[in-house]
Amino acid sequence: MLHGKRILLIVSGGIAAYKSLELVRRLRERGAAVRCVLTRGGAQFVTPLSLSALSEDKVYTDLFSLTDEAEMGHIQLSRDADLLVVAPATADILAKMTQGLADDLASTVFLATDKDVMAVPAMNVRMWEHPATQANLQTLQSRGVHIVGPNEGDMACGEYGLGRMAEPEEIADAITDFFQASAPLSGRRALVTSGPTHEPIDPVRYIANRSSGRQGHAIASALARRGAATTLVSGPTNLPDPAGVNVIHVESARDMLAACEKSLPADIAVCAAAVADWRVAQAADEKLKKNGGGPPTLEMAENPDILATLAAAANTRPRLVVGFAAETEQVVAHAQAKRERKGCDWILANDVSPETGTFGGEDNTVHLVTADGVENWPRMSKSDVAERLAERAAIALETPE
Ligand code: C5P
Repeated sequence: MLHGKRILLIVSGGIAAYKSLELVRRLRERGAAVRCVLTRGGAQFVTPLSLSALSEDKVYTDLFSLTDEAEMGHIQLSRDADLLVVAPATADILAKMTQGLADDLASTVFLATDKDVMAVPAMNVRMWEHPATQANLQTLQSRGVHIVGPNEGDMACGEYGLGRMAEPEEIADAITDFFQASAPLSGRRALVTSGPTHEPIDPVRYIANRSSGRQGHAIASALARRGAATTLVSGPTNLPDPAGVNVIHVESARDMLAACEKSLPADIAVCAAAVADWRVAQAADEKLKKNGGGPPTLEMAENPDILATLAAAANTRPRLVVGFAAETEQVVAHAQAKRERKGCDWILANDVSPETGTFGGEDNTVHLVTADGVENWPRMSKSDVAERLAERAAIALETPE
């Protein structure tokens, strides 16, 4: 279903435009909000009034309407949508999209958008088969534009062949499939830990480490973008909270564990935080003073192991528990041992020897250690590691338990 999805429907000029009225209804029935842009050509076939009545929204028609630009610029129009759909997509608008022309509102919106675009071609069979149209389609597809149809059949012009616009129900199905494919984790809950922990010595001093939180934050963001309801339990970092993620800020390891346990149940837990192994057993209530007696002796206590605790939870163990292993030598062997010891499903092992620049840096060299063996991933950015992990997690959760 399409609840909460915002679709910007661009109706260009073709006899098939009447089917777009039906498309608006089908999309609304599935729960989507639809906003329409009508090209000058499109307005020869359907009226702004009918589109507006069916979408229950204003219809945008003219690039240079001063009020529209003041209220909602063409850039905002495309940014506010989750998906742009052009139906019918004429040979002309496909050519404009390929060339990057921007001489009316519809083409300008395509050039300005940062969202996925779906085109539903409708045209005469000769126009469809013309090498110019086919070359344009190839270019658009190589840029990631999704093409739906066309179908074969009788045409309004009396000819027969490929070029009929896909039926509204087929288009609505393609749109639903698009959102499902881009959100394979929808309906799932994810828990991610990130950053260092701060272990107090006294009210002003603490023990910490150099973790930046970049990897954990990127993982939370990648899981959330795939539709998981994601909680990020983060130690102190300089990073902004990732969009669309529920962030709980904590300082110490014990607070991090408590926040994690509170946010269970989850389908997947990724422990990317660099949790301090030890804390000061009795943090002082007042600031420690230099009293001439030499430096204080700090008695240390062991911190809870969050990863091991989540992996061992009797009733609330997430189905997929993932940990990290930062190693400076024998990376994979140590990671395999860690996987067993901590009882987690996967370990992402990375080489953090100083010469790699991993800790606090942009890139990561990772080995994925699972029950089935080891996968060596090429050196890539931390956000690419996050994307790949989220993809793998979605596949793992798809398979029946
Ligand atoms: O034992 P080590 O610190 O090398 O293990 C690293 C993995 O365990 C990481 O996934 C880290 O987030 C997790 N961990 C934890 N709680 C601790 C220590 C490590 O969750 N106290």
